[in-house]
Amino acid sequence: MRLKDKVAIITGAGSGQGKASAKLFAQEGAHVIIAEWNEENGKQVEQEIRDAGFNAVFMKTDVSNEENVRAVVEQTVEQFGRIDILFNNAGIGFSARSKYTMSSLLKTPLEDWNQILAINLNGVYHMSKYVLPIMINQESGSIVNNSSLNGIQGVTGADAYTAAKGGVVALTRVMAADYGKHNIRVNCICPGAIDTPMIAEVLQNEKFTESFTANPLGRVGKPEEIANAALFLASDESSYITGLIMPVDGGLNAI
Ligand SMILES: NC(=O)c1ccc[n+]([C@@H]2O[C@H](COP(=O)([O-])OP(=O)(O)OC[C@H]3O[C@@H](n4cnc5c(N)ncnc54)[C@H](O)[C@@H]3O)[C@@H](O)[C@H]2O)c1
Repeated sequence: MRLKDKVAIITGAGSGQGKASAKLFAQEGAHVIIAEWNEENGKQVEQEIRDAGFNAVFMKTDVSNEENVRAVVEQTVEQFGRIDILFNNAGIGFSARSKYTMSSLLKTPLEDWNQILAINLNGVYHMSKYVLPIMINQESGSIVNNSSLNGIQGVTGADAYTAAKGGVVALTRVMAADYGKHNIRVNCICPGAIDTPMIAEVLQNEKFTESFTANPLGRVGKPEEIANAALFLASDESSYITGLIMPVDGGLNAI
């Protein structure tokens, strides 16, 4: 019960890494708020967690919509009285490529650039903007941001995504610097290739699978492996860690 009675908002918890984290955090005693814009998936995760005997509530959330985010944070405080953990995990990537361009800068129209940043970077800003005052008031809190290896390396082929993820890394550092005095920790995970719906289709392609497994551990990661890292950073076990940019990538960043 490493998160006993903690109130944890997890964005994008209807799928992949967010879903695995919601289940793990709930098992560890947290009241989990599934802040997800896909209603069907969000409700499904809520049901699965409740069926297992743990606590979760789905709140329909579009992290790119400031008003919506404000209302969700307000509702959380009304219902639970506090917010201990914010896992800024929601994001769009390769699986959204039919809607938004995942390509090099010269091939990325401004509209798509703006949309990708609106979700992957502004989403972190919106959630943090409304959760931080609650945490400051409590004089405690842990924020975990989900960036990507793209945020720290020059991975080509999805430049708006990469810029957004780099922004998340920089924002993590400055938030850690600004809010440490209020006993608020802010850390960041940089996943390598993780087997979730975001890259499911690419994983069918041998060429990509080869590059995704070209790391010291020789395999792609599982969403549960990100959930374990998020749990550590969210919990009091990491009480002296803030501003950390932590790759969880099978060692890819080391080579
Ligand atoms: N899968 C990978 O290989 C990989 C690698 C590095 C980083 N990441 C990052 O990890 C995070 C989780 O992705 P995943 O792999 O679990 O993918 P996923 O597609 O399975 O899950 C992403 C979730 O975010 C939700 N979401 C998207 N936009 C949203 C919005 N505006 N508001 C609320 N929810 C929204 C989606 O509906 C989905 O449930 C993302 O930020 C992603 O960029 C993924």
